[in-house]
Amino acid sequence: MIRTGKISKIAGPVVVASKMKGARMYDVVSVGNENLLGEIIELEQDRATIQVYEETSGLRPGEPVVSKGMPLSVELGPGLLNHIYDGIARPLQLIMDKAGDFITRGVDVQTLDKKTKYTFKPSVKKGDTVRAGQILGTTKETSIIEHRVLVPPGVEGKLKQIESGKMTVDEIVAVVSTKKGDVKIPMKQVWPVRRPRPVSEKLLPDVPLVTGQRIFDFMFPVAKGGVAAIPGPFGSGKTVSEHSLAKWCDADIVIFIGCGERGNEMSDVLYEFPELIDPKSGKPLMERTVLIANTSNMPVAAREASVYTGITIAEYYRDMGYDVALMADSTSRWAEAMREISARLEEMPGEEGYPAYLASRLAQFYERAGRVTTLGGKKGSVSVIGAVSPPGGDLSEPVTQNTLRISKVFWALDAHLAYSRHFPSVNWLTSYTLYDESLAPFFNKNIEKDFTELKKEAFVILQKEAELKEIVQLVGPDVLPENEKLVLETAKSIREDFLQQNAFHEVDSYCSLKKQYLMMKTILRFHELAGEAIKRGVKTAELSALPVKEKISRMKYDANFEKNAPSLWKQIEQEVKA
Ligand SMILES: Nc1ncnc2c1ncn2[C@@H]1O[C@H](COP(=O)(O)OP(=O)(O)O)[C@@H](O)[C@H]1O
Ligand SMILES: [Mg+2]
Repeated sequence: MIRTGKISKIAGPVVVASKMKGARMYDVVSVGNENLLGEIIELEQDRATIQVYEETSGLRPGEPVVSKGMPLSVELGPGLLNHIYDGIARPLQLIMDKAGDFITRGVDVQTLDKKTKYTFKPSVKKGDTVRAGQILGTTKETSIIEHRVLVPPGVEGKLKQIESGKMTVDEIVAVVSTKKGDVKIPMKQVWPVRRPRPVSEKLLPDVPLVTGQRIFDFMFPVAKGGVAAIPGPFGSGKTVSEHSLAKWCDADIVIFIGCGERGNEMSDVLYEFPELIDPKSGKPLMERTVLIANTSNMPVAAREASVYTGITIAEYYRDMGYDVALMADSTSRWAEAMREISARLEEMPGEEGYPAYLASRLAQFYERAGRVTTLGGKKGSVSVIGAVSPPGGDLSEPVTQNTLRISKVFWALDAHLAYSRHFPSVNWLTSYTLYDESLAPFFNKNIEKDFTELKKEAFVILQKEAELKEIVQLVGPDVLPENEKLVLETAKSIREDFLQQNAFHEVDSYCSLKKQYLMMKTILRFHELAGEAIKRGVKTAELSALPVKEKISRMKYDANFEKNAPSLWKQIEQEVKA
């Protein structure tokens, strides 16, 4: 049904239209003679307030507004991977081809390519009873990912027809006869981005998302289906961290939402990301990635929508039974888009000009993360890792605070550490994870039974260092007894030999859980034996000068450390006891 109104007012990305009789909240509308895309975000009788996803300059009062009678939705199907989209899931390449480098307006391009034929292999047969979430068949989406075509939510019945062979995303692959009549199912689905896709049940967060980064996995682990926040000032390493996580974490699918801080930073992502090689397959990481790019010169409303587009795509792959990791860099830009739109709506501003609903919007978004049993009975997960860039690094500002309230893992990047080239610049004293308890059984069972024990010891030493450093600042290091000097030495070793990890080093960029464990075991083994030596009268300085210390500092670069650790332990024993 087509409902036409007229523009009565234009304020930046916000347009007011009158005579929108019959339109509904959140309907997508086409605005003006150029058919700009927008969404109704406020409705008073027949007066609709619309946020427009495209540049609104040139629009004039009186131009038509047409409701499309459906909420902002995204097309889901094979062909999403290996592509770069804008905030409302339009392929950037296609927009550029159609409109040149500068994204012009009213370009009507669709998310999925309608011409490509995918070979559909059915996994059910005619006469079978099927239910929502069940796999109808599969097709190879990229060389490394199998796309599973599912019965859409809400559909259940007897399979009347099932195809096989080469099909486009629009062609019907199955017909299900349901209580309400026949339902024709193509490979693609359409889903409203602001509505979470349904699941059968949420599972406990007891499996880690393994990132290969020691400061994350060993010290502050995040669970699959968990939420982590990376706040940090400019230049502290948020983007490098998000890239390392995208590249190395043990998710099957990566959704990367870039909300550019400055235009050029986003183009870095656009050029750098497609260059990343997937360490698992040796193929481009893009073959299992969907990249959503908002540059700062794209309209704010599209940026506001981009996180919903991203998480809907993430849920879609989760429903196929995949582990999905969604990175958003940075969520502060998203919150700022909300603030700008709210200001245009002349809403009552809350803290620092952010709308009063900032907290609930953040919560609604992050709540879509989780490890679940899908409608079809498979296990899948969406983990969300959001970078936050508080202005001036001030963590007390509203976006950081509200994110903290929701996320269970807090990886606090620290300007001082970054400045002294300690990378990843995660502050080990202020960061935390609330998954320690639920993940401990996994680590102790699958890696080594004293895994979490070692971790506790490491934290005690780092804490003790912080206390001792205050004393040292007042009175100098010489007054400390030898055993406390040793604590400082060991803490230094934990920081430099373990926590520091070079994202650009061939070997060190990824560290297996087993290697993490063995590295920490090595440092603490030295600490234990050195403590005994000190009791026999040996000086800390002598122990620090032992040749084996040099070897300890190089263990991170040893690709075969899992094999070589025992011989290093032998050497420690020989040198410290001598
Ligand atoms: N893990 C790391 N290993 C090595 N260098 C790093 C690491 N993290 C950050 N850096 C350095 O810090 C610089 C800034 O990091 P970046 O992620 O761009 O900061 P942000 O996104 O917080 O502004 C990088 O260009 C890089 O030189
Ligand atoms: Mg950055």
